[in-house]
Amino acid sequence: MNSRPYGPHVRVSACKADVLSGESMLLTRLNYRPRPKTRKPCPGRLRFRWRLPFLDHQGSLHFYTRNTHFSFWTFMAGKEPFVYIDGEYHPKGEAKISVYDHGLLYGDGVFEGIRAYNGTVFRLREHVERLFEGLRVIRVNIPLTKEQVMNAIVETLRRNNLADAYIRLVITRGRGNLGLDPRSCPKPSIIIMTEPVLPAHGKEAREKGVTAVISSLRRDMVDGTSHEVKSLNYIQSVLSKFQAIDSGTDEVVMLDHRGMVSEFHGSNLFIVKQGIIHTPTSAAGILHGVTRARVMKLAEELGYEVRERDITPYELMTADEAFLTGTMAEVVPVVKIHGVAIAEGKPGPVTREIIRGFQRIIQDPKEGVPIRETIAIPAKTRN
Ligand SMILES: Cc1ncc(COP(=O)(O)O)c(C=O)c1O
Repeated sequence: MNSRPYGPHVRVSACKADVLSGESMLLTRLNYRPRPKTRKPCPGRLRFRWRLPFLDHQGSLHFYTRNTHFSFWTFMAGKEPFVYIDGEYHPKGEAKISVYDHGLLYGDGVFEGIRAYNGTVFRLREHVERLFEGLRVIRVNIPLTKEQVMNAIVETLRRNNLADAYIRLVITRGRGNLGLDPRSCPKPSIIIMTEPVLPAHGKEAREKGVTAVISSLRRDMVDGTSHEVKSLNYIQSVLSKFQAIDSGTDEVVMLDHRGMVSEFHGSNLFIVKQGIIHTPTSAAGILHGVTRARVMKLAEELGYEVRERDITPYELMTADEAFLTGTMAEVVPVVKIHGVAIAEGKPGPVTREIIRGFQRIIQDPKEGVPIRETIAIPAKTRN
């Protein structure tokens, strides 16, 4: 038996604020069943006003109410987010790729972690540039231009109604057979996942700082397969993270094959010594961090000298200050390394100034691509 109540009921499948337009909306699915003519309206029952309901691009009906005194089911949790796979948008629970994809079988692919702040995708062009560099090195051709990838990202954010988000862009070699020969994979998979990030994310770490241990595993020699390529193979970082977990620290410092400081397992490393900022070079097998590059520029804008050079573990542990940079972490002070307090074991003044500057930068719409915007595709690259 159909137990739905009678009347112009609206089944509300989600309720959330439209963070892009600033409007509050109810995302609805119409569940209409006409009331039998014989039945009288119940006094005190549903009274609400409609204001121009409309269908959005997902097929959801949106409406506004002045009075919520009517029968509907409200799920305050958001709708299941959409995941972009090869040009199509799938609800998260149905977003799947083949188990024969070489991204899964061999870690054969590249990815980007990107952030959107307040409706702007921070340094989107730089992330997509790095992605395409990685694709060139691993010899994967995708059927999209950089602009089309950027448009797919902003469209995914729009569909998921996100203004502050973490974005994971993944390109895999694609589906092939079980052998590792990449020629069995004719078509790469392009995946975009997005999730909300709270504005207060990372505040505590920024204020108090984090601790680190030095990993016994070494970053590879720089030969084209090291962390300069942001490949899907993160096993070295994952195993190093276990060392942080086992030793009760937050982070882990990776050394390169020579024993020089390289980076953290998922972020770049800086030290401050006598007012000068130092960071390891590409030769130490680092990922060319997008945040690192912006922080180096910021430090120079603030009047600091920045030197890219080899750093020994001794120099790291005897630095006046140390901090890490990364898309998700942003800028975080490191206050203890391998049991040794960095200076007084508190975030230092230079780090705090960089953090303040970076917090300003991420709110600046000129530092990225607005989610509302569709990126023009240059004529020469148009498909
Ligand atoms: C190994 C490694 N190094 C550094 C970084 C920081 O790079 P970015 O600032 O581009 O996020 C990351 C970020 O994912 C990383 O995985």
